[in-house]
Amino acid sequence: MTNLVGQTIGKYRIVARLGRGGMAEVYKGYQPGLDRYVAIKVLPSHLADDEDFIGRFEREATAVAHLRHPNIVQVYDFDVEGDLYYMVMEFIEGPTLKTELKERSIKGQIFSLSETTRIITALASAIDYAHSRGMVHRDLKPANIMFTAEGQVVLTDFGIARIVGATRYTMTGAISGTPAYMSPEQGQGERGGWNNLAGEGLSDGEHLDGFSGQGQALWRG
Ligand SMILES: Nc1ncnc2c1ncn2[C@@H]1O[C@H](COP(=O)(O)OP(=O)(O)OP(=O)(O)O)[C@@H](O)[C@H]1O
Ligand SMILES: [Mg+2]
Repeated sequence: MTNLVGQTIGKYRIVARLGRGGMAEVYKGYQPGLDRYVAIKVLPSHLADDEDFIGRFEREATAVAHLRHPNIVQVYDFDVEGDLYYMVMEFIEGPTLKTELKERSIKGQIFSLSETTRIITALASAIDYAHSRGMVHRDLKPANIMFTAEGQVVLTDFGIARIVGATRYTMTGAISGTPAYMSPEQGQGERGGWNNLAGEGLSDGEHLDGFSGQGQALWRG
């Protein structure tokens, strides 16, 4: 994927690349009109050739943009420029829970019980709210949990797994989600709230003992 730093997409000037996940690239953008920084998730351009993608993108974008909860990242905009589909969201200072876990494990530290309780409570509240609005996250994992500069827990990437859908491939076929954090049912193609609870349970296990990849260990023997 080309590096977009220095370019302008829509009303956003791309100032830095924040990271790259399995299905998209995330940039830091500047919105001059509102004098604020934003995070811009650019979806891979080959998705524009998938005829179901645009429908999913529009449906899901509308649903995601309507979610409003203190522990869910605020989505400002979904748009397209040429064949570049992108999502604009609140810029979160970070780190992600994944990075935090890695750093703590290097230092031999783990989250305290009260920190863990605070994280679990925030995530449960976010997921409960989304479920009440008929939304399932589908890719709940430490990389999608971030901390603001004030330490507030924020869940990112709601609906992205669904938007990207069956166009995310692994060696063994098409999936939407991250195998280590998926429930057995999600692996078999089922959709539902349990998928989120399995993802959360595994993420929470990582807070407590710092051990990653329990999904693989628990479900794949
Ligand atoms: N709202 C945000 N504000 C600031 N940085 C963000 C934001 N969302 C994502 N990032 C950064 O971009 C990185 C890449 O995110 P992305 O969602 O593409 O990948 P991932 O969640 O690590 O993996 P996957 O693609 O498997 O879900 C994150 O690790 C994080 O550092
Ligand atoms: Mg992510």
